[in-house]
Amino acid sequence: MNPVQRHYTRFDLADRILDALRQSGADLDALTLDDLGPIDEFHIRGREATTELAELGSLSPGTSVLDVGCGIGGPSRLLAARYGCRVTGIDLVGEYCRVATMLALRVCRGQSVRYCQASALGLPFGDATFDIVWTQHASMNIEDKQRLYAEMIRVVRPGGRLLLYDIVAGPGGPIHCPVPWARDPAISFLVTAEQLEDGLRAAGFDVTTWQDLTEPVREWFRKMRGRARAPGAPPSGPSILLGSAWETMTGNMVTNFEEHRVGVVRAVLSRPHPAREG
Ligand SMILES: C[S@@+](CC[C@H](N)C(=O)[O-])C[C@H]1O[C@@H](n2cnc3c(N)ncnc32)[C@H](O)[C@@H]1O
Repeated sequence: MNPVQRHYTRFDLADRILDALRQSGADLDALTLDDLGPIDEFHIRGREATTELAELGSLSPGTSVLDVGCGIGGPSRLLAARYGCRVTGIDLVGEYCRVATMLALRVCRGQSVRYCQASALGLPFGDATFDIVWTQHASMNIEDKQRLYAEMIRVVRPGGRLLLYDIVAGPGGPIHCPVPWARDPAISFLVTAEQLEDGLRAAGFDVTTWQDLTEPVREWFRKMRGRARAPGAPPSGPSILLGSAWETMTGNMVTNFEEHRVGVVRAVLSRPHPAREG
């Protein structure tokens, strides 16, 4: 196991998730997408952020989507169930792929969604396989950004799009660790928004929409900080995924945003048609 896999892997994850769902009153024999919503989206602003990105991308039924760094699959299940997309999720962490598959079998019957363990740096798909490449909060663990962007543009068809929601480095200096993607700086590879945009353009993408969400996200963290957990409430999704370090990680994220050490970007990019490539 490499250090990124070690950071995320919890071998009892499926049981922990099912226990939390039971505690929240969900019927495990008839689980719904909404039961999973508070648990299976592993990025800032959870399902709300996923829905906003899907709307921005105007996804339609039958669209083939690759979710790079899919985690336990919340976003991909939403894209399949609500938007009728045919979704493939890949993640470096085998345990996440197994849990994602188990949850999809329970809530996505009849929909096209599948998962496989793979690295974003060597996607096991042919050229121009997907209409959309989708990624949320995965690249901060990936040092070789140019190879990542090259893989993404390779597997999306000409005219297809990359929908992205990423954490970036801010001007305030190095981040305070631990954070949800890294217990120490050795596996955190943030770039600035400018470096992200330059890297994506250098790989061949055109930028259609570029949104700096840092300020609204900072505000969101301020509101979250003030909200106490109800006594007896089931554990939150990220705390199930990351264990007892979660509270320190959240505190550090608040500080990292307040001290301008991190930012958030949402973007839509497109792969030009061949006449315009090169
Ligand atoms: C913070 S989680 C986000 C998960 C998911 N995108 C979501 O928003 O719910 C980051 C994910 O990126 C995955 N990841 C990190 N490096 C990766 C790589 N090189 N290849 C594939 N997945 C990777 C991690 O295993 C983890 O599941």
